[in-house]
Parts: sequence; structure tokens; C-alpha cells
Amino acid sequence: MLNDIELTDLRQQFPVLSQQVNDHPLIYLDNAATSQKPLCVLEAINTYYRDINANVHRASHALSAQATSAYENARDICAQFINANSSKEIIWTRGTTEAINLIANCLTTSIQAGDEIIISTLEHHANIVPWQMLAQRTGAILKVIPLLPSTDIDIQAYKQLLSDKTKLVAVSHVSNAIGTVNPIEEIITLAKQTGAKVLIDGAQAIAHWQVDVQALGCDFYVFSGHKMYGPTGIGVLWGKEEALNQLPPWQGGGEMIKTVSFAQTTYNELPFKFEAGTPNIAGAISLARAMTFLTSYDRQVLAAHEAELLAYTTAQLENMPRIKIIGAPHHRAGGVSFIMDDAHNSDVGMLLDLQGIAVRTGHHCAQPLMQSLNLSGTIRVSLAIYNTKAEIDFFIKALNELQDLL
Ligand SMILES: Cc1ncc(COP(=O)(O)O)c(C=O)c1O
Repeated sequence: MLNDIELTDLRQQFPVLSQQVNDHPLIYLDNAATSQKPLCVLEAINTYYRDINANVHRASHALSAQATSAYENARDICAQFINANSSKEIIWTRGTTEAINLIANCLTTSIQAGDEIIISTLEHHANIVPWQMLAQRTGAILKVIPLLPSTDIDIQAYKQLLSDKTKLVAVSHVSNAIGTVNPIEEIITLAKQTGAKVLIDGAQAIAHWQVDVQALGCDFYVFSGHKMYGPTGIGVLWGKEEALNQLPPWQGGGEMIKTVSFAQTTYNELPFKFEAGTPNIAGAISLARAMTFLTSYDRQVLAAHEAELLAYTTAQLENMPRIKIIGAPHHRAGGVSFIMDDAHNSDVGMLLDLQGIAVRTGHHCAQPLMQSLNLSGTIRVSLAIYNTKAEIDFFIKALNELQDLL
């Protein structure tokens, strides 16, 4: 766990945290929605626009060369960050949602009617709807892995769903709505035995521990910059070179082509084949800065800090008679969801906000999960490296007081 001095130093790098909200110090517990940004990331955005703004890969002038070099250097940093085999495997996207849509669209021609795509009950809408749309386009069938009462994925049921018809398995590394960590190593190994491709939605994992895509053995791993201390509007599709090369391009335009004539167009190589148009240059550069920011710490210490804080939060919530925690998975990360008996989630959220405490209420873009749990929504507390035990104490005290009010 981080000691007090380290934590104070770390918090000072996030200027937004020192503000007052509703006359209280901000306690930001909505990190699964988006995390705050450290000064070095803000500076990286500023420096790019102030000093080297130019379009990439196109011009022969000095600024463009500098912008291109910073942009491609960011790709190298990202490749190292997730241990990709090559920078060619890093495709910049707008975020997790766009990365999943990219793959779903590119698979249109290789999926046949009757092929099967497996997802889980725990998925965010971003890892459901693109597959439904792919199924509608192709006649493929979407199969859903059910959950055990603990909210862990039912691996026995998953084994039964897998067959030689399975073409793709797409599951989240960590559930954004209730924090369940999925046994993705096992999920990937089993899928590979049937020859299916595997996409892992890493949106809620990437900020919390080191991800090694080669060790995982999946085909695609996707995540968003803004949930890991980077800016909005940038994210990553990592794909095995071989798997990416098998796909046709998605969007057409500049950058993704080698030659264009009215008679015929030939396409660029990886990664540019999937990056049509002017990219989010400042986004890529500053996301890479968020990655170097994270790796400047011992990531195991950061992970231990978050895990301890999450265990502390969960234990406090368990002691409150009117609070029901949702799920009891083998491994929970990032956050915990709960409801308060006889109280509306949104009332709890609003009253906490009056004390400067930011939590998320609602279905968390996981309506099928909520339906399976027979809930309309939950209250979710989600943590980041800068959260403190004192913040959790304040939150729990406020929640206790609310119980008497509502
Ligand atoms: C598990 C998961 N997948 C996908 C997404 C979509 O991410 P984005 O909106 O950044 O594209 C989110 C966002 O909350 C998420 O938590």
C-alpha cells in the first residue's frame, strides 16, 4: 500500500482533486466512468498543441516530422505497456467502443449464418450491441454465458456453449457494473481449443494492473485512455498481427491507403490500414504519457493500494444493515456496487453529491446484467490510485447518516 507521503505526492499531481464541490472537498469515487488526469498528461496535451502541432505522416516539414515522431513514439510506448509483440499491433481508436465496433464490422465478411458468437451476462453495452448488429447483418447467433449466484461467470455453462460453430468469444476482463474479475485466462484457453477468436474488453482492467497481451493469448484486447488517467477520445485496439492482417479495412479515407485510382485502391499496412483520416494525435501522445506515468510507479504497489482500499470499502458496506452488496465474486476489482433497502439509488447518489462525494447510480450501461440480477440499477463506488482511506471513511459516514434520512 502507498504510504501517506507517497499518496499525498500522488494526489498533488491531480489538480482536480483539490477542489470543493458543494462546499465539501471533492471525493471522487466514479473512476470506472472516467478517471482524473495527472498534470503530466495535461502538459503533454498542451505541449503538443503549443509546440509541435502539425498533421502526421504527410508533410516533409520539421513540425510534421516532430509530430509524427511523437505520435509513433506513443505507439511504441503503448506496445511496451501491454507487451505487444510489435507496434504494428497497436491501432489507435476513439476508445473501447470504437475498437469493438471496428472488429465487429471487419468480421462481417468472415462470419456466416449459423456461426456463433459468445459473450457473457456481465458485459457493458459496448460489448453487446456491436455483436448483435453483426449477428443481424450475417445471420450469426449470439450466445450468452450465464452467471453463478456469486456473479462469477458459469464456466461449466461456457464449456457447453463452446463448439466448432463458435467463431468469436468476447468478454470483459472486469465488469464495470459490479467489479467481477473474469477468469479470462481460462476463458481464452477454452475458446482456443475450439479455434475461436477471442476479444477481451479491458476497459476496466487496464488501469488496475499490468496487462500482458502475449501472455494472455487472446486475439484482441481493447481499452479506453480516459479510464487509465489519459484523455477522452483515444483508446487502443491491440490485435495479434496475424489476426489483424486477416481482416479487411473498416473505414476508408486518407492514411489507410497505399494507392488510389478510380479503377482500384490498394490498402496500407498495419497499423495504418485501420487508421483512416487524421488521428487524435494529442490524444495518443498524452495517453502514452499516462502510461509512462503509471509505469514510473511500482504497479504492484498501486494495485495493492487499490485492492486494500476496495476490501476496506466492501467490509464497511457489509456492516451496514440497510446496504446490500451486489455479488460475491471470487475476485473483485476496481469497485463495488450496492443498493440501500427502501431507498432510490438516485436519491442516495444526489444526497452524497451534496457532500462532495461523486458516485455513479443507475444501470451502468449493463441493462442485461441488471435484468439478470432483477435490479433496476445500483450505486457504484469505483476507486483509483489516488483514493484514500480517509475518503472512504467520510463516504461511509455520509452513507450512514443517509440511512436515517431516507
Ligand atoms: C467494461 C466496459 N466496456 C466498454 C466501455 C466503453 O468505453 P468507452 O465509452 O470509453 O468507449 C466501458 C465504459 O464504461 C466499460 O466499462
